[in-house]
Amino acid sequence: MPATHLSCTRCGNELPLEGIGACPRCFGPLEPVYDMDELRRTLTREHIEAGPPSLWRYAPLLPVHVPDEPRLAPGLTPLVPATRLASHLGVGELYLKLDTANPTHSFKDRVVAVACAKAQELGLETIACSSTGNLANAVAARAAVEGLDAVVFCPYDLEREKLVATAAYGARIYAVRGSYDDCSRLTVELSFELPWGFVNVGLRSYYAEGSKTVAYEVAEQLGWEQPDVVICPIASGSLHSKVGRGFRDFRELGLVSGPAPRLIGGQAAGCSPVATAFAADRPVKPVRPDTIARSLAIGSPADGDAAIAATRESGGSIHTVPEHEVGENMALLAETAGVFGETAAGVTLGALREAVRRGEVGSSDRVVLLVTGDGLKTPGPVADRFVPIDIPADADALLTEL
Ligand SMILES: Cc1ncc(COP(=O)(O)O)c(C=O)c1O
Ligand SMILES: [Zn+2]
Repeated sequence: MPATHLSCTRCGNELPLEGIGACPRCFGPLEPVYDMDELRRTLTREHIEAGPPSLWRYAPLLPVHVPDEPRLAPGLTPLVPATRLASHLGVGELYLKLDTANPTHSFKDRVVAVACAKAQELGLETIACSSTGNLANAVAARAAVEGLDAVVFCPYDLEREKLVATAAYGARIYAVRGSYDDCSRLTVELSFELPWGFVNVGLRSYYAEGSKTVAYEVAEQLGWEQPDVVICPIASGSLHSKVGRGFRDFRELGLVSGPAPRLIGGQAAGCSPVATAFAADRPVKPVRPDTIARSLAIGSPADGDAAIAATRESGGSIHTVPEHEVGENMALLAETAGVFGETAAGVTLGALREAVRRGEVGSSDRVVLLVTGDGLKTPGPVADRFVPIDIPADADALLTEL
């Protein structure tokens, strides 16, 4: 395995590949380090193309051993052209990355697959998380298929569709009277007390690496080319920064060439600590979320500053999307592309629309928009569009009504 150790991104402290959530010296975030010289010698396009049809085809770039029997493996989700939406927006070429095709219908299956593989290497029998809903689904399903226990901590008032699915997989659900940020604090405290694999606490450096595979797949699916622009929703900021890292890995390994894609991020107006800090050119300050985009309702984003750094480095931007546009955008995506994305996708499309309005993205760009979660879990914002026409079961009645 080319991953050699964990390194602190703040002070450079080096640690073994174990379940350590933060640098013991400075509490900074830890990232796996890979032997890039070895990878440059051994990892070819052909090697990847011959791999399994899942994220495990990128195993040498992940900090875990491939499970002996990969079950319910996420990844290699469709990348589809959205030509009607592209011409509606005035974008040259637009592709949708449909991470709704993952086992629990969101990109969180990727991060959990990697974190759970590490939990199993460490001999843990329970996986756990704090979640805005999609991660809970992914942890619960992964535990079910692996024969582990799952425990999830969610805000008590999340969309019912998400929690019912989590319950169906057999997880123990704690509905915490508080926000996601309260759930997160609770799991950090509990991680010192319980022998559980908290995927986004003690296993976070493994978990986060799973998001790089979105970038790997996009490049491979575009015929080993990078897009000009990638549009990403931002909650903790992990996905956004790791997508940037994924393209960088491929450039460093000579698997693709050309400049880094511009990263464009989106947050809903009711929870936009990262977009606000980007606009004001200052570090992220926590906020109290009040947004319809519950998946993205993280007021104290762990990787917010990293997301801003990745955006600036790429020449991209981060936009705030008005709350009332989230449902409108979900409907626009559905009507023009036949894709029903969740509220996060409404935010992502809002960020693209704003980037087009500002002239940051246009007719010469090849753009990839990440659809990270499924609208069936968050139908609320478009529910008012459901106005069926009531008719008797009679053809004549229908023909007169037309
Ligand atoms: C559907 C969806 N998209 C995007 C995100 C953002 O992920 P991150 O916390 O890595 O920024 C989340 C996080 O929960 C999510 O559920
Ligand atoms: Zn450190």
